[in-house]
Amino acid sequence: MSSVVYPGSFDPVTLGHMDVIERASKIFDNVIVCVLNNSAKKSPLFSLNERVNMLRDVLADFPNVTVASYDGLLVDFAKENDIKVIIRGLREVTDFDSELQMAQGNHKVSPEIDTLFMATDPKFSFISSSMVREFASYGKSVEGFVPDSILSMIEDKYKI
Ligand code: PNS
Repeated sequence: MSSVVYPGSFDPVTLGHMDVIERASKIFDNVIVCVLNNSAKKSPLFSLNERVNMLRDVLADFPNVTVASYDGLLVDFAKENDIKVIIRGLREVTDFDSELQMAQGNHKVSPEIDTLFMATDPKFSFISSSMVREFASYGKSVEGFVPDSILSMIEDKYKI
């Protein structure tokens, strides 16, 4: 059985993430979407539990996709779950430097684990979770950026 972990902070999950997950689910027998902390991103909008629940909700129709969370290093999560492959989406060339560095760093500390990159569908390449938060914080609709079923959760976060 081939398994892959798709890690991220998913604050919140976007249509770009959904595209990568759906395509990965057709290549691998099991896709584990793992919510982790990104030390560069302080004070997330959604708690870890909220992000996990949101992902479980939007991924309910994918039988070979499961959602997990981990407080620690991605490579340790992969080792504990006997996963040898990490998948990351690349939206544009500016993603590449930091993604390459992370993949090489992870491979250096855990040579048995490899990172594969999936090119994001260009129709989603402008979307980022931080852009979603920014628009939503000023009251703009983020329809077309995130799955419809989580729109109200995002709006609720910014209601006074
Ligand atoms: O969605 P993001 O914020 O780009 O995802 C980044 C993430 C969470 C995958 C990355 O920060 C991560 O792997 N965090 C867990 C801690 C870790 O393993 N750090 C070492 C690699 S930078």
